[in-house]
Amino acid sequence: MAVQIEKLTSHFGARLTGFSIQDGISEDDFRVINRAINEYGLIVMPNQPLTDDTQIAFSERFGPLEETLTGAVGAGSKLVRVTNILPDGTIKDPNSQLALFTRANFLWHTDSSFKETPAKFSLLSGRELPKKGGGDTEFASTAVAFDELPTELRQVVEGKIAIHSIAHSREKFQKGSSTEEQRRRLPPVQQALVRTNPLTGRKSIHIASHISGVVGMADDVGQKLAEKLLEVAANPSKIYRHQWSANDAVMWDNRATIHRATPYDETGDRRLMIRTTVSDFGPTVMNGTIVEGA
Ligand code: OGA
Ligand code: MN
Repeated sequence: MAVQIEKLTSHFGARLTGFSIQDGISEDDFRVINRAINEYGLIVMPNQPLTDDTQIAFSERFGPLEETLTGAVGAGSKLVRVTNILPDGTIKDPNSQLALFTRANFLWHTDSSFKETPAKFSLLSGRELPKKGGGDTEFASTAVAFDELPTELRQVVEGKIAIHSIAHSREKFQKGSSTEEQRRRLPPVQQALVRTNPLTGRKSIHIASHISGVVGMADDVGQKLAEKLLEVAANPSKIYRHQWSANDAVMWDNRATIHRATPYDETGDRRLMIRTTVSDFGPTVMNGTIVEGA
């Protein structure tokens, strides 16, 4: 059976069926799936019950995986637990650093743009979904946003370097919430503001709430620009909101989309999502210059 592709919206995203990750994917099917994630930015793969091992093995076909940040649950592994549940099965204290860490996902972002080597793709599998509903994930395309930028704004962003900092987005989410340790371990990094997909040649803006400035601009001007770009990308009419079903596997291109979590009853319900994260080719900026092919 061949891979079937249906569009999720008129402008980005696709639903892929006709294969089983658990049973194994042929080289031909993999090529189609890889093409689809590059082309549509977001692929929803329903009915894919995954174990940790199959999720890792499938994700690794797209490239090397990131290892989880030290300090987070599951540190040093290739899996990120996006959840309100602690490893011992109890529910996280909603006021803890750990809970805040997950809740910072409510801001529009891309994954790991605050690291020198950002994330290329993320694969999130819904393992335990809130019984009372909620906990949807919203997505928007920053390739569509690039196309829609007014010409003068497009000229402003081309060739620019943005500064991404996790402390910045944490502080934005809740004052005083970034720790000294985080700031030391993850100092601000530079990322190309415009990315070009190497497979399709399509451009996108690489934006996130992590942006604390733009090189060559005053901090407040750079932040205003980033906010403006996020506003264009996350225009309500352009958002795809994913309502999770059991065994959904959802993969997105961090270079060409933004996403955010939405609330659910964190103290009275349970939600467990497992993420694997495929690294991008390397830093997009080196010695203050945008790397060729970024
Ligand atoms: C993530 C993320 C959103 C969600 O895993 O990177 O942002 O809805 N998740 O859990
Ligand atoms: Mn995320």
